[in-house]
Amino acid sequence: MNLKEFIEKYSDLIEENLTLIFNNGYELPVIEDAMKYSLLGGGKRLRPLLAIMTCQMFDGSIEEVMPYACSIEMIHTYSLIHDDLPAMDNDDYRRGKLSNHKVYGEGFAILAGDALLNTAYEILLNNILNKPTEERIKAAYIISKAAGLEGMLGGQAMDLYYENRNIEIERLDQMHRRKTGALIKASLEVGAILSKAEEDDIRRISIFGENLGKAYQISDDILDVIGSQEKMGKTIGKDAKSNKSTYVKHFGINQSKKIMIDTVNDAKKAVEKYGSKANLLIELADFVAYRDK
Ligand code: IPE
Ligand code: IPE
Ligand code: MG
Ligand code: MG
Ligand code: MG
Repeated sequence: MNLKEFIEKYSDLIEENLTLIFNNGYELPVIEDAMKYSLLGGGKRLRPLLAIMTCQMFDGSIEEVMPYACSIEMIHTYSLIHDDLPAMDNDDYRRGKLSNHKVYGEGFAILAGDALLNTAYEILLNNILNKPTEERIKAAYIISKAAGLEGMLGGQAMDLYYENRNIEIERLDQMHRRKTGALIKASLEVGAILSKAEEDDIRRISIFGENLGKAYQISDDILDVIGSQEKMGKTIGKDAKSNKSTYVKHFGINQSKKIMIDTVNDAKKAVEKYGSKANLLIELADFVAYRDK
């Protein structure tokens, strides 16, 4: 199966499982619509696809990884809703349509983000309660850390702080690893852990994820300058306008591209020993290096 076939095969399954979350309606005003608006029918589903990819690579069960894959996508979607708020990046478009607060207002956008985060943990804990295994507990812990101060949330705090401020390269690197790298790395790790992969395999997958995640944010910075608004589904040129600390601001486009490709190559090296078993990971890494959306 190549990457295109893999994406086609699993995107619908991810969508179906995300839709199931809304089966028990709460009869609440606005908030459920606001959650669905951002969660369903949009996004590349990169993180759940990565979780399924490593699950398959280590002969795990897709059913076992699915609640974790969905939880990560919910946490990621919450981060995007909040990221777009006027108090943060103030972006009007996301995933090819108006951002959440432009449709539902800031209050409901904040709550919809909170609700996606909370529901993600409800799903994880319910899954563990049904059958507590060490792998499930470990996977849930990894997700919580990747979403938190050591990961996405901490990175977002750094992103906000370093607007209009100079940043050292070490801090910039750390910011990218946290705000975007952490959840991408966690997605890959979770698939491997739930499939009972060996310690050395998990270690290699972590290194792959660490580098892929960093490269992904560098390419996002690059595409904010040279990307197409239509393809990206979000406003381009915002980083410079907001004087964000990005790789492009620090190194310029060409040097950033070089660093990004080197980082993708470091990712690939980490899984090279798997040969054709890692074909999808390698293809995915190349997608990140040359993506336009
Ligand atoms: C966008 O993530 C924000 C970053 C972390 C760079 P994606 O590029 O994965 O966005 P979607 O999920 O496809 O909308
Ligand atoms: C966002 O980084 C990372 C998140 C954790 C949401 P950006 O602010 O660059 O993401 P976009 O460009 O708005 O998607
Ligand atoms: Mg941001
Ligand atoms: Mg943003
Ligand atoms: Mg960006």
